[in-house]
Amino acid sequence: MPIKVLQGDCRDLLKTLPDRSVHCVVTSPPYFGLRDYGVEAQIGLEASPAAYVAEMVRLFREVQRVLRDDGTMWVNLGDSYANDDKWGGTTGGKHVSGLHGLNPTRERRTTGITAKSLIGIPWRVAFALQDDGWTLRQEIIWNKPNPMPESVEDRCTKSHEHIFLFTKSSRYFFDNVAIHEQVTGGSHMRVPGPNSLENVDRVPRARKRSKAGIGVKANESFEAATSGALVETRNRRTVWTVASQPFTGEFCGSCQTFFEGADLARLRVIKADGVPTRRVCKCGDTEGWVAHFAVFPPDLIEPCIKAGTSERGCCANCGSPWERMTFKTKRNASNSALAGRTAEEIADSGKWSGDALEGNAGLKAGPIITTETIGWKPTCACAAPARPCTVLDPFGGAGTTGLVADRLGRSAVLLELNPNYAEMARQRVRGDARLFAEVS
Ligand SMILES: C[S@@+](CC[C@H](N)C(=O)[O-])C[C@H]1O[C@@H](n2cnc3c(N)ncnc32)[C@H](O)[C@@H]1O
Ligand SMILES: [Zn+2]
Ligand SMILES: [Zn+2]
Repeated sequence: MPIKVLQGDCRDLLKTLPDRSVHCVVTSPPYFGLRDYGVEAQIGLEASPAAYVAEMVRLFREVQRVLRDDGTMWVNLGDSYANDDKWGGTTGGKHVSGLHGLNPTRERRTTGITAKSLIGIPWRVAFALQDDGWTLRQEIIWNKPNPMPESVEDRCTKSHEHIFLFTKSSRYFFDNVAIHEQVTGGSHMRVPGPNSLENVDRVPRARKRSKAGIGVKANESFEAATSGALVETRNRRTVWTVASQPFTGEFCGSCQTFFEGADLARLRVIKADGVPTRRVCKCGDTEGWVAHFAVFPPDLIEPCIKAGTSERGCCANCGSPWERMTFKTKRNASNSALAGRTAEEIADSGKWSGDALEGNAGLKAGPIITTETIGWKPTCACAAPARPCTVLDPFGGAGTTGLVADRLGRSAVLLELNPNYAEMARQRVRGDARLFAEVS
C-alpha cells in the first residue's frame, strides 16, 4: 500500500494536505514535558500545560480540515505529574541523555500546580478539543499489563493511558463489526468473557466445535461461530488490554540505515572487560545510534484503523468508504451447551470460576446474536472502483501507524519532524512489507 512519510514540522506539512483527504487519524502526540526528541520546533516542551493544550488545539484544527467529514480521530495521550522544582535545567530530572539523545536541553516548566499532582493532561486536551468543535465520542483506557515499574510508595503504579475517539460530525464511518470481540461462554449469562478479569490477556478461549450447529445454516464459518462452541461476538468494550512492547530496532544516523531482528543481531559488538558496550554499524560508526522510545504497540492501534477505515476501501472518485453489509441471526440459547444448566453446574464443569457466577444461579441464557458479513457496498453514486482508505499520523515517530495501515491494506501519510525518525519509519515499514512495499 502507498505509505508516505513526510519529514518536517507537522504544523507546516498539514497545510500542504488537501481538505477532507483522509479517512482516519491515529496519533500519539509527544506527551507534555516528558521527552526531548532532540529537534527544534518539537511539540511537548511548552512552558505550561495551558501552552501545550493551546498548541494541540491549533494543530488538531488543521487536522480537522484534512479529515473527511465522516472521519474519526484516535488520540493516545498519557499523563504526567507536576514538579516545577525539578523540571528544567540541563539534567531534565531523571530523564537523562540515554532517553533524550546526546544533548538534552530542557527549559523550565511552570505548571503552577502543586508538586506531585497529576496534571490531567489527557482530559485537559480532550475538553479543549471538545470546546473547539470536536465531538468527543469515547474514552478508551489502554490497560497495560506490563507497566513501567515505579518506585513510589504513596500511590499506585500507573498502568494505563488514554485513547480518545473524536469525530467531526455526529454521523461518521465506524465499522464496529470489524472490531467485535469474540465471546466464548455466553456473555449473555454474565460469566467471564475474554476481557474479564479472569482472562485479561484478551486471547479468546480456543474455539471448541461440538455437535454441528443445530438448526442453523450449514455454512462453515457461520456454523463455527454459532454452534454449541458458544463462540459469538459482542461490541468491543472500552478497556483495551495491550502489553507495551520494547522497540527493538536501531537506526544508524551516520549512514541512515535501520537494523532490526537478525540484521541487528548480526552487527559486531565492542566489549570492555567482557561486557558489551557499543554496537558497530556496517558503516563502522559506533556513536550515531538512534532509537525510538515511545512507539505504539501495533495491537493497540489495529482496532482504531479497522474501525476507522473500510476494509473494502473507498470510492476512487470521491473517497466515500464502502460499507459492510451484515446479516444478523438470532438463535435461541437453548442450543447452547450452557442453556438450562444452573450456574453451579457450569462452575462444576471447570469452565468458569465460581466467584464470577455467584448470585447468577438459575439465570436464564438470553438469545445469541451472530453477525455475518455478506458483502460490501459503496456509499456514493459515483460507480467508480474502490481504492484503499487513508490513515494520517501527524506525529509519525518510528512509523507504527504506517506499519499497521500497510498490514491492513490501507494507505497512510505520516508526518515526522526528526529526519532520523522519518527515515527510520520508511525503512521499518519497507522491511515489514518486504517485496510489496510502496513507501516514499
Ligand atoms: C510519541 S512519538 C510518536 C510515536 C509513534 N506513535 C510510533 O509508534 O512510532 C511523537 C513523535 O512526534 C514527533 N514530533 C514532535 N514535534 C513534532 C512536530 N512539530 N511535527 C512533527 N513531529 C513532531 C517526535 O519527534 C516523535 O517522534
Ligand atoms: Zn551506519
Ligand atoms: Zn464516489
